Amino acid sequence: MSTQGRYTTEPAEWSWEVPAQGAARFTWEYDDGRDRLLALYQKGKDKQWDGMRRIDWDLEVDPYDPLGTPDEAMSLYGSRYWVAMNEADRALLRQHYASWQFSQFLHGEQGAMVCAARIVESVPDLDAKFYSATQTMDEARHAEIYGRFLHEKIGMLYPIDDNLQSLLGDTLRDSRWDMPYLGMQVLIEGLALAAFGMIRDTTDKPLPKQILAYVMQDEARHVAFGRMALRDYYKQLSDAELREREEFVIEGCYLMRNRLRGLEVLENFGIPAAEAAELTESSDFLRLFRKLLFSRIVPCVKDIGLWGPRLQQAYVDLGVLELGDSSLDLLMTQDEEIAERMDAERFAAEEQARVTEVTETVAQGAEASE
Ligand SMILES: [Fe+2]
Ligand SMILES: [Fe+2]
Repeated sequence: MSTQGRYTTEPAEWSWEVPAQGAARFTWEYDDGRDRLLALYQKGKDKQWDGMRRIDWDLEVDPYDPLGTPDEAMSLYGSRYWVAMNEADRALLRQHYASWQFSQFLHGEQGAMVCAARIVESVPDLDAKFYSATQTMDEARHAEIYGRFLHEKIGMLYPIDDNLQSLLGDTLRDSRWDMPYLGMQVLIEGLALAAFGMIRDTTDKPLPKQILAYVMQDEARHVAFGRMALRDYYKQLSDAELREREEFVIEGCYLMRNRLRGLEVLENFGIPAAEAAELTESSDFLRLFRKLLFSRIVPCVKDIGLWGPRLQQAYVDLGVLELGDSSLDLLMTQDEEIAERMDAERFAAEEQARVTEVTETVAQGAEASE
């Protein structure tokens, strides 16, 4: 099923080339992996799953209400545009919002796959190369699943958001090997995880709930990897080098806050750009959403040792400083448990259906032989 013709606005180009910088590194030492990283690699192998089978694609999705999003969550809610809309317009708006959101997830997953592959290439040690190879596969599966959901269930895609593309470009163009970790594993993945989590926990639609819960089960490993690798490495850096990383994080965080507006959606509904921005800024729901989006990034940044005064000041300005105290470990354990519980419930329901079917067949057999 081609994506051409499904974009709300055609992308300016059908491919995007980011020139590669830095070295591809080989090592001839095959036997001195760090235990924690190798354990994570083993877990990555053990926990591979196939979205073709694990996800119940037969579940129907209403393209005009794919997530069960409440009206209040749409930034137009309550405005004069909202009042002028009829039910059909509002249904279309819901489709566009869900499409925009999941399209950014899809493009982000492709970016994660490319960054993980870049880490395989550039990181010096074999244990990290092994681990990243499993993550590359994880991200391929995620991109496949979000792509299928958008093509088959929502039927519409949005191009990559400018801010997301810009951050992805900066992350990939940098020749220092730790930058793809910092840009992708900490910033983009951290942001995506928070957004996945909010939808997973609020949607009442079974298909997107399954997708998000299972993808998040993998993402917990990705965050763990980024933290481990960077915490070790940043202990060895000079103050000046650490400040450079902090500047990158600060800039990335502002970019991402701006990314979260989905102004393209409103512009597609004929609302002038300036007014769309104003409506979005004044939406209470969006303000809360934005703050929650940093819930995975701030504690991670603090944990890896990037916590200088300028960075703290930026987080005060963004209103998210206190999130640094929340427990990432707890959040990630919960992510894994939610997916496991969902599996258990689904298997229990299938088992029950099977038992009922057998009982009925036996009863029919008994009737027939009477
Ligand atoms: Fe992913
Ligand atoms: Fe990931």
